[in-house]
Amino acid sequence: MTPAEDWIAHYEATDERDRLTAAPGGRLEFIRTQELLARFLPPPPAVILDVGGAAGIHAAPLATNGYEIHLIDPVPLHVEQASAVPGLASATIGDARNLDRPDASVDAVLLLGPLYHLTERADRVAALAEARRVLRLGGVVAAAIISRYASTLDGLFRGYLRADGFEALVARDVGEGQHRNPDDVSGWFTTAYCHEPDEAPAEARDAGLDVEALVAIEGPAWLLPDLARWLNEDRDLLLRTIRRVETAPRLLGMSPHLLLVATKRAAL
Ligand SMILES: C[S@@+](CC[C@H](N)C(=O)[O-])C[C@H]1O[C@@H](n2cnc3c(N)ncnc32)[C@H](O)[C@@H]1O
Repeated sequence: MTPAEDWIAHYEATDERDRLTAAPGGRLEFIRTQELLARFLPPPPAVILDVGGAAGIHAAPLATNGYEIHLIDPVPLHVEQASAVPGLASATIGDARNLDRPDASVDAVLLLGPLYHLTERADRVAALAEARRVLRLGGVVAAAIISRYASTLDGLFRGYLRADGFEALVARDVGEGQHRNPDDVSGWFTTAYCHEPDEAPAEARDAGLDVEALVAIEGPAWLLPDLARWLNEDRDLLLRTIRRVETAPRLLGMSPHLLLVATKRAAL
């Protein structure tokens, strides 16, 4: 395992099956990601490659909705967990930079994880180019990134900045986007790259893709101290409010996660 891949140990020690269902922040990320996928993916039946799909949390409802969904992940535990999800067409070990699929064989590729764990730009562009290779003409890539400012906001609103070491982590995130948690402090995530929002479209273009949208997933709403109540009692109002500002350029960096949507319009 190279230093850049020490995140594998993080995933072997945590449970991705709970991440998007337990805490309100995860629930909001899940609801909004599914909403955006429903908006941007080609309608079912279509073939989707869920690259970095972990335990299959997003793949499961997509399979229920009639997609043929193949999950790929480098972490054996994730593939084992995803294999138990009903309806998935397959779950296999693999890497976003080198997909074991023929050219032009799928309608959509999800990269909901790989782009923020590939810490070198060349690797992120390689993953996007590989997604493009396996897409049919007109196919869609939906790729998640993490904002460079997420740890600043988390540090302020949750008080992490008062803990030893967090300010240095934040300073590096803001300065160079390289997120590191060398002591593996719980809740401080793991090795990742945090994007300036406008870097991601440039990476997609360098991979030969046409950029359709860059959308905030949670927007500013993840910072609400009573987010659980909003989700339980005023969900429609909350979601309408996020949607209204989901592409507002000055707010994009406030969202911890953003979704880049790009298409393969022509053969290179
Ligand atoms: C935070 S999890 C997200 C899982 C899920 N897609 C979601 O949105 O909840 C990030 C995932 O990306 C995977 N990943 C990281 N680097 C990858 C790579 N180079 N190729 C494929 N998957 C990768 C990890 O194994 C992990 O399962």
